Amino acid sequence: MTDPAAAPAGPAAAGGLEVVGLSVRITGRTILDDVTFTVPPGRRVGVIGASGSGKSMTSLALMGLEPTGATVSGSIRLDGTELIGMPERERARLRGAGIGMVFQEPGTALDPLRRVGAQIAEPLRLHRGLDRRAARAAATALAADVGLPDPESMLRQYPHQLSGGQRQRICIAMAMAGEPAYLVADEPTTALDVTTEARILELFERVSAGMLFVTHDLAVLSRIADTAVVLDGGRVVEQGSVASLLAAPQHPATVALVEAARATARRTGGAS
Ligand SMILES: Nc1ncnc2c1ncn2[C@@H]1O[C@H](COP(=O)(O)OP(=O)(O)OP(=O)(O)O)[C@@H](O)[C@H]1O
Ligand SMILES: [Mg+2]
Repeated sequence: MTDPAAAPAGPAAAGGLEVVGLSVRITGRTILDDVTFTVPPGRRVGVIGASGSGKSMTSLALMGLEPTGATVSGSIRLDGTELIGMPERERARLRGAGIGMVFQEPGTALDPLRRVGAQIAEPLRLHRGLDRRAARAAATALAADVGLPDPESMLRQYPHQLSGGQRQRICIAMAMAGEPAYLVADEPTTALDVTTEARILELFERVSAGMLFVTHDLAVLSRIADTAVVLDGGRVVEQGSVASLLAAPQHPATVALVEAARATARRTGGAS
């Protein structure tokens, strides 16, 4: 099974973000238990599951940003490089350049004391080597890409001067600025109205990065991802193509998610 010569050709052979047997324990409690999945290069994989099922913990563990005191075991390989056990200095270097993340809480990622433009420009300078002027132009273009009105003046604001949805879009622009090979997006559109959400989803579809996309919205899931992982109580209970998960869910947790989505669609008159 570990014989590389026996590995099938195809996307997996080219690396990917490979998570094998990932477990996270915090003060004796198992938060993630033997989580295994792969994000092939350039592909988008969805993560669904009820509140508290471990979606954000999985995202944070991929970034090496699990809470202090957590014990992480298993393997996370980024195009063949093992991340678990990697010295923090090296791991920090990969954040932004190797794997970018959009956090569920946009507040966590932003420095309250710095203008948002400087925060988007930083990965542009660090990871893309742009000079100050080029970084400012690229930051303005990114702010426009995420649909922020009047990007130049928006970039001069401090985080507290923006709305929650504007902050969320700044975080998306920041995560994309380093042009990482992989993106972890944890419910990146929850603070946005439907029009803005549609625009951001188009942007995610255009990005060539491999993506782990956490969502509770099955319509968003089927739009953005071909395959998905279902979490329940910190375990992967089902994974496969989004079409088959939605059409023929097998595990009770998946059945519950699909039925709840259908009931909401019926109530709101939406199609599902
Ligand atoms: N810092 C922490 N310390 C201890 N336990 C934590 C911590 N953060 C999260 N947990 C626990 O880990 C479990 C998974 O939480 P997680 O945030 O990953 O859920 P989630 O699937 O992202 O939920 P939601 O849909 O509400 O965002 C929960 O039981 C939660 O209580
Ligand atoms: Mg979460």
